Amino acid sequence: MTKKLLAVWKDVSERGISKMKSLLKFITCGSVDDGKSTLIGHMLYDAKLLFADQEQALELDSKVGSRGGEIDYSLLLDGLMAEREQGITIDVAYRYFTTDNRSFIVADTPGHEEYTRNMAVGASFAELAIILVDATKGVITQTKRHARICALMGIKHLVLAVNKMDLIEFDQKRFEEIKKDFLQLTHGFNLESIQVIPVSATEGDNITKKSENTLWYDGLPLLPYLESVDVTKEQHDSFILPVQRVSRPNHTFRGFQGQIEAGTISVGDDITTLPSNEKAKVKSILVADKELESAIVGQPVTIQLDREVDVSRGNVLTTSSNIQVTDMFTATILWMDDTKLIPGRNYLVKVGTKVLPGTVMSIKHKIDINSGEHIPADKAFKNELVECDISLSENMVFDTFENNEALGGLILIDRVSNMTSACGVIEHSLRRSTNVIWQETDITREIRSQQKGQKPLTLWFTGLSGSGKSTLANAVEKRLVSLGHHTMLLDGDNVRHGLNKNLGFKESDRVENIRRIAEVAKLMNDAGLITLTSFISPYDSDRQSAREVIGKEYIEIYVSTPLEECEKRDVKGLYKKARTGEIPNFTGISSPYEAPENPEIEIDTSKYTLEEATDYVVKEIMKLWN
Ligand code: ADX
Repeated sequence: MTKKLLAVWKDVSERGISKMKSLLKFITCGSVDDGKSTLIGHMLYDAKLLFADQEQALELDSKVGSRGGEIDYSLLLDGLMAEREQGITIDVAYRYFTTDNRSFIVADTPGHEEYTRNMAVGASFAELAIILVDATKGVITQTKRHARICALMGIKHLVLAVNKMDLIEFDQKRFEEIKKDFLQLTHGFNLESIQVIPVSATEGDNITKKSENTLWYDGLPLLPYLESVDVTKEQHDSFILPVQRVSRPNHTFRGFQGQIEAGTISVGDDITTLPSNEKAKVKSILVADKELESAIVGQPVTIQLDREVDVSRGNVLTTSSNIQVTDMFTATILWMDDTKLIPGRNYLVKVGTKVLPGTVMSIKHKIDINSGEHIPADKAFKNELVECDISLSENMVFDTFENNEALGGLILIDRVSNMTSACGVIEHSLRRSTNVIWQETDITREIRSQQKGQKPLTLWFTGLSGSGKSTLANAVEKRLVSLGHHTMLLDGDNVRHGLNKNLGFKESDRVENIRRIAEVAKLMNDAGLITLTSFISPYDSDRQSAREVIGKEYIEIYVSTPLEECEKRDVKGLYKKARTGEIPNFTGISSPYEAPENPEIEIDTSKYTLEEATDYVVKEIMKLWN
């Protein structure tokens, strides 16, 4: 053990870490007028942490600023043009500064509710958060939201800066009330330290020096507190390496690369690969081009094992026996997307270095951001916090957020826009995922298909109501049957009389409608059948999910007859009713249709006879099929 420690220490010294001052990463959160930027600006100014030219610029700027020639410290942090014009902070501004005792990186995040996303980004990087309140207002809704998001993102150390103490004449009683409110609010959060400090950001009380105005306050001023607060995390001994890349420069070398998220590793150690659950010994460790005996948390490494294992990007090498593997879990997430979260929708789920398609199966409840109360909900809007069950397309390695932030935190990515829709933490694996086990059967899809003498397919017809989907699907099916094929047709109106009779036309119902049809089509393919589906299926993301569920058998046929033509036909008289408002959420009128961008086949039925259209579609299918 000593030998191992010594080896690690040598590596660390070589990298120069021992010479570095400890680093504190923190964020500041507060609402627009709480004085956030002023607070940090004043701290840098008083502590003489500015470069001379910055100082001069600040004095010049302030001459024309909003404080009548007095120095406006907020100008220092409000670096972005737009902020200065609007007087609000709109992005995350990172600043680096250093004192004799410590180095700091501060993320100045916007306070507005609409910028929750930026705040969450800032919080995910920080070890400590300074939450500002205005002493004249006390703890407000924003304060509660900020504290809850910080806790969700794993921040364990909070400082409440009660600002504008000068405006309440440094009233101790009022300060104590605010402190009590805040401690009550954060009760039950998993925090390691809370410090409440009375300050005046503009006047400089308790920023770098103890204030004469608050002799009743016996704690440290802000900067000395930040210089001394201990934020060292309890180190988990077990080694964890989420694999970012498998390196194969030649056929003799296969190394697993990534950043060590926890613990240490030495040559000769036994590790387990997850999810494949194989055992191997560490044969060599490389940091950059240098071969080392050991490596520690934080280092980027290439690890070579003594035998062949089944490991690819997103898998994990570990010495821990607690890390779990699951394809279904409960998570608490902060929804950040402009479009609402609807259960049944498919997203990309990223945990550690792994990205997998996954579905939010159900929302369990919303969490009131102010009170922490659980509120029943079946959808979630921007900036709402929800607990939900997520199911993945395959197994993923995870740990609880408490144990390991890298393997316990997740983000959801919108598959179409590629934007981060949510961030959150994994609460626990769902037992169902381990108790429901796939049952292998002897008669397989291949055997069933061979018996029918055909390769299964799903012909997915999509288009507006009245576009001719059903008529065309019907004609194509007849043609295929006449050619000796075995088929099954699933039609929107018909399926809604049985399997999906509990579903209407609001977005969440349509998502579920398409999810079920995709699963049924896949089962039909398992039976060896050619399945034709005729559903409006208006949403791009749901068709994409269907494509994934069904796999390479999926052929999208976009029946692109224009809306005007569909409305002119109005076979069922539904457009007329939709126009008068008698039918709500009618596709093309009061509900959107997202046209496919890359369908395998496209046909506008207004331009051809049914015979011609059928010929064309069947010909195209045959091309793709063979
Ligand atoms: S989908 O959007 O969920 O894919 P689906 O194809 O099952 O829709 O059902 C569409 C059929 O339901 C239409 O052809 C039409 O006959 C009928 N319908 C009734 N109300 C609506 C509505 N609000 N929007 C679209 N179609 C409707």
